[in-house]
Amino acid sequence: AGCAAHGEERVSSLRAPQVVEEGALTVCSDMPYEPFESMKGGEPVGFDIDLIREVAAELDLRLEIKDTDFDAIQSGDALNSDQCDLAISAMTITGERARVLDFSSPYFDASQALVVAKGSGIDALDDLDRQRIGVQGGTTGELYVTDNAPASADVVPLEDAVAMEEALTTRAVDAAVYDNTVVGDVVANNPDLEVSAEFDTGEQYGMAVKKNGNVDLLRSINKVLATLEDDGGYDKIYATWFGG
Ligand code: ARG
Repeated sequence: AGCAAHGEERVSSLRAPQVVEEGALTVCSDMPYEPFESMKGGEPVGFDIDLIREVAAELDLRLEIKDTDFDAIQSGDALNSDQCDLAISAMTITGERARVLDFSSPYFDASQALVVAKGSGIDALDDLDRQRIGVQGGTTGELYVTDNAPASADVVPLEDAVAMEEALTTRAVDAAVYDNTVVGDVVANNPDLEVSAEFDTGEQYGMAVKKNGNVDLLRSINKVLATLEDDGGYDKIYATWFGG
């Protein structure tokens, strides 16, 4: 009842979450996935990193980012074996993943996009008959391509975004499909590549904790997300990494 006198409710009124390492918020993220997560001068940077810094600060925990294979994140393996407290990795909330992970409220909208060599004339999956299509293994891009590309196409699962970019620039693949939120950086780095199509998959990113494992942490995350949306903090972080 006395709360009203102190104004808005604070995160500190929530229960302090359990963490795998005392005093730290240990976060799994698959890097690089620019502009969401990458290393710059030895420091993790990006949209996701800025968001998660806010969570760590609110909980008064030191932030520790662990570069982790995306497939280990999305399969639940990394979190369910306590390698980290939570994952933030431009990860789409899906029904399949929600069986092995608990997701925060959504914090970003995404769809899939097709990247090809300029002048290739490829602007739909149907143009990829008997061609090679690069995807990151374990991603929603891989699922989309597997479901929608011609049966004759060769879907090539690659380790990470670096391998995808390399496969595109060396023409080891004829096209690659990944989130529309990152292809702007890919074509900016490689003027001979272009985004030739987008597929409206209606995805949303969420942070994740282990299944039924950390309700207190999830509550704190959602509270921080709600606060950032209300006080303009989210828009500032967005402007830093996406402009405008
Ligand atoms: N949003 C896509 C998915 O959830 C791709 C995420 C890839 N993230 C990364 N950090 N490599 O499957």
